[in-house]
Amino acid sequence: MTETKTITQREQQLVEVKKDFPILKREVNGHPLIYLDNAATTQKPQGVINALTEYYSSYNSNIHRGVHTLANEATEAFEKTRNTAAGFINSKVDELVLTKGTTESINLVARTWGEKSISKDDVILVGGAEHHSNIVPWQLLSDRVGCKVRPVKIKEEGVLDLEDLRFQLSENVKLVAVNLISNSLGTINPVKEVGRLAKEFGAKVLIDGAQAAPHMKIDVQDLDCHFLAFSGHKMYGPTGVGFLFGKSEILNSIPPFQGGGEMIKEVSFEGTSYLDPPLKFEAGTPNIADVIAMQPAFELIQKVGFEKISEMEKELIRYSRERMASIPGLKEFGTSQSKTALFSFIVDGVHSFDLGQLLDAKGIAVRTGHHCTMPLMDSLGIEGTVRASFGIYNTVKDAEYLWDQVERIQSKYGSA
Ligand SMILES: Cc1ncc(COP(=O)(O)O)c(C=O)c1O
Repeated sequence: MTETKTITQREQQLVEVKKDFPILKREVNGHPLIYLDNAATTQKPQGVINALTEYYSSYNSNIHRGVHTLANEATEAFEKTRNTAAGFINSKVDELVLTKGTTESINLVARTWGEKSISKDDVILVGGAEHHSNIVPWQLLSDRVGCKVRPVKIKEEGVLDLEDLRFQLSENVKLVAVNLISNSLGTINPVKEVGRLAKEFGAKVLIDGAQAAPHMKIDVQDLDCHFLAFSGHKMYGPTGVGFLFGKSEILNSIPPFQGGGEMIKEVSFEGTSYLDPPLKFEAGTPNIADVIAMQPAFELIQKVGFEKISEMEKELIRYSRERMASIPGLKEFGTSQSKTALFSFIVDGVHSFDLGQLLDAKGIAVRTGHHCTMPLMDSLGIEGTVRASFGIYNTVKDAEYLWDQVERIQSKYGSA
């Protein structure tokens, strides 16, 4: 086993970040918690927890229509998060729709833009490593309008095969829906190139940014995409908050998602008119508290900065790859150099589920199974993997402990 290395300066900064997360002080099964399930959901810093308590204890109120002080304070805080989210991805504020998550954002696009723009002879291309939430909404749309949904191949190293995309693009393709980072492999897709190719055929591009938002700078102007979806809970914010970017001209031209209060201009039995986007897509009382508590989560990421996040991840990748290579019978999936600190692997002779449980017994939280990407697992010919996904607070020391434990389990139960 490698002895703990001297903690670098960067490592020390991450240790400081870790202190902001109360849950990371707890023990699991008698060991300090090493949380490596960040791709499923991240832990929450004290600032987010405080923002929730503060909202409920000092200015809880419904938003947008109130004339009283509490309503104004809540509206201001709610809209502040929208402003921050728009700045975070370089979109205009009225292009940023608040939803309850990436899943709802994609379903919104399928229901509104999809039903208006897609018909029987049309084709939707989706990446072969998509999360189910970027597959099933298109299949449901297909059930309604009769279009075809086809997968684009994934290369051996786990990134989208642009040759296959080029081959499949035609005038009938109306949408290419791909993730920026795969939740099962951690690989980064060349989405800018996807956009350039799709544009040649007039197809729109939807990017699932759920895994990318906490790891890398996203700029929707630079990507020139039509839609981008991401979730707050994967970036240190509360659950139940999601974001959908849509280009203004599209959001202005498509019908509302749901009907009700908050999204109307005038209602009469003769007919109803709607507010402009983004409110047109936000019927009913939204998730006010959680949206407000997203603000400190954005601030945390901005404070640490993507440059530092990327430097740290490079170190985690370099270190982890070195360790994985020395563990007999360990196979990594998603071997591309272009990836985040997410490691998906299997070990000969040890079922992923058992490996996950044995790691849990040592306080390490990882995820096992298909990670909501069953078609990807089928194409890899496996049932599932063990996935260790690192977040803003994870250090090389955490990685060292993880690989020490995997090594120990392999030498005890592995068949290689
Ligand atoms: C790549 C990707 N897309 C979509 C989703 C769905 O996100 P949510 O459950 O927050 O709607 C996830 C969640 O794991 C994901 O990793």
